[in-house]
Amino acid sequence: MEKFFEKLDSSLKNNSIIKMTLSKPVSKNNELRNVYVKPILLKDNKMYQFTFRYERRDETKNFDAKQMMEQVKNLVPDVFQNVSLFTLTEDVTLLVSKKDKPTLMCKKINEKRDVDLSHDHEKQRLIDPTKPWWNLLGLTTRDGKVMADMQHKFKQICKYVEIVDGVMRQTKFDDEIHIADMGAGKGYLTFALYEYLITHYDKKIVMEGVEIRKDLVVKINDIIDRCKLQNFKFVENSIEDYKPEKLDVLIALHACDTATDDAILKGVRNNAKLIICAPCCHKQVRREMEKSGKFDSITKYGIFLERQAVMITDAVRALVLEYCGYKTQVMEFIEIDNTPKNVLLVGRKSEKNVDKEAVAKQIKELLDRYGIEEHYLWKNLWKNCRTY
Ligand SMILES: C[S@@+](CC[C@H](N)C(=O)[O-])C[C@H]1O[C@@H](n2cnc3c(N)ncnc32)[C@H](O)[C@@H]1O
Repeated sequence: MEKFFEKLDSSLKNNSIIKMTLSKPVSKNNELRNVYVKPILLKDNKMYQFTFRYERRDETKNFDAKQMMEQVKNLVPDVFQNVSLFTLTEDVTLLVSKKDKPTLMCKKINEKRDVDLSHDHEKQRLIDPTKPWWNLLGLTTRDGKVMADMQHKFKQICKYVEIVDGVMRQTKFDDEIHIADMGAGKGYLTFALYEYLITHYDKKIVMEGVEIRKDLVVKINDIIDRCKLQNFKFVENSIEDYKPEKLDVLIALHACDTATDDAILKGVRNNAKLIICAPCCHKQVRREMEKSGKFDSITKYGIFLERQAVMITDAVRALVLEYCGYKTQVMEFIEIDNTPKNVLLVGRKSEKNVDKEAVAKQIKELLDRYGIEEHYLWKNLWKNCRTY
C-alpha cells in the first residue's frame, strides 16, 4: 500500500498522471460506484478533477495535488479496493483483497503518451445550462447550474444531441430545416436539439413539438415566448392529425406503442429526409402474438415473448422504412430514466431503387412465423393513401 502511495506521489510531482480510476467499492450498498480522476488546467493551475459516479448521477470536484492525495488516502482502501493509475511511463494497478491484502502491479510503458488537460465537460458541453429555458423547464437553478437530481437527465440530453447531430450531418438539407418532434412531452429533448441546431448549424431551423396534452403545450409555448425563441412552437395535436407544412426531420422519442407507427407514417407520407425514432411500449404486436397461440421454444416463456414482440415490432418498422425507400439503421440509444427501451431507428431517404417485393416478403415471413395477423404500421401504410 505504501509503495502505491509513493508511486502516486512521484507521479504527482512529475506531472505524469494521465488518469486514474478507483473502483470495486468495499460495501455493496455504497451508492458511490467509482471515482474517475483526471488532471485539468483551471485558470492556468494544474488541478485534479474527480468525477464521483453514483448510481444515478455524477458529481465533479476539483482538487490541487495535495488535496488529491488526501482524497485518495481517504478512499483507498476503506471505500474502494481497486485503483488503476495510468501515467506517462507506467500503468499501476492496486488490488486489495477481501482480507485487506494489497497487490501492486506495475507495467512500464514504451509508447509515447500525452496528458490531456481539457475539462471533460468542455467536450460534453453541447448544451449550455445557463440558457434561460433550462431554468424555466426545471433543469437548472437560476444561476444556470444543473440541479443535482437533474444531472443524469442533462447528461442524457447532451448524449441525445450528439447522436442526432451525427445522423443529421450525414444528410443533405436545404437552407431551412423543418423538424417535428412527435410526442414531445415536457420538451427537454426538443429544446436541446433546437438550441444545438441554432447554435451550430448555418441554416434556418424551424421546430415544432407535437403533443396531445394541452397543459404541456401551454406551458412550453409560454417558455418559448418568454425566451423569445424564433421559429419554434409546440402544437396541441395528435400525431395522427398533425399536418406539417414541410417536414425534413421527423423525431419520435418514446411515443407510446402505435404512436411511434403513426409518427413513422407521418414522416413517410410527408417525404421526410430523416426519420428518427426511439420506440416505446410494444403492446400491439404482443397482443397479436398472444392471440395466435403460436408459441415457439423462445416465446413460450413470458419474458422472452415480450422481448421477441419488441424485436419483431421494431424489425418490421425498420423493414417498412426500407420498403418506403429509406436506408435504415438500428442503433443503441441512451437510457431515458433507466428504461430498457434503448433502440433508435434511423431512416434516411435514399435515391436508390428498392426491391419492394423482396422486402414485403421478409415482412410477411416474419409476421407469419409468429402468427401475427396485423402489424399496425404495415397495415396502415396504405390507409387513405396512394399505393406504396
Ligand atoms: C413518454 S413521453 C416522451 C416524451 C419525450 N419525447 C421524451 O422522450 O422525453 C410520450 C409523450 O407522447 C405524448 N403522446 C402519446 N401519444 C400521442 C399521440 N398519439 N399524439 C401526440 N402525442 C402523444 C404523451 O402525451 C407524452 O407526453
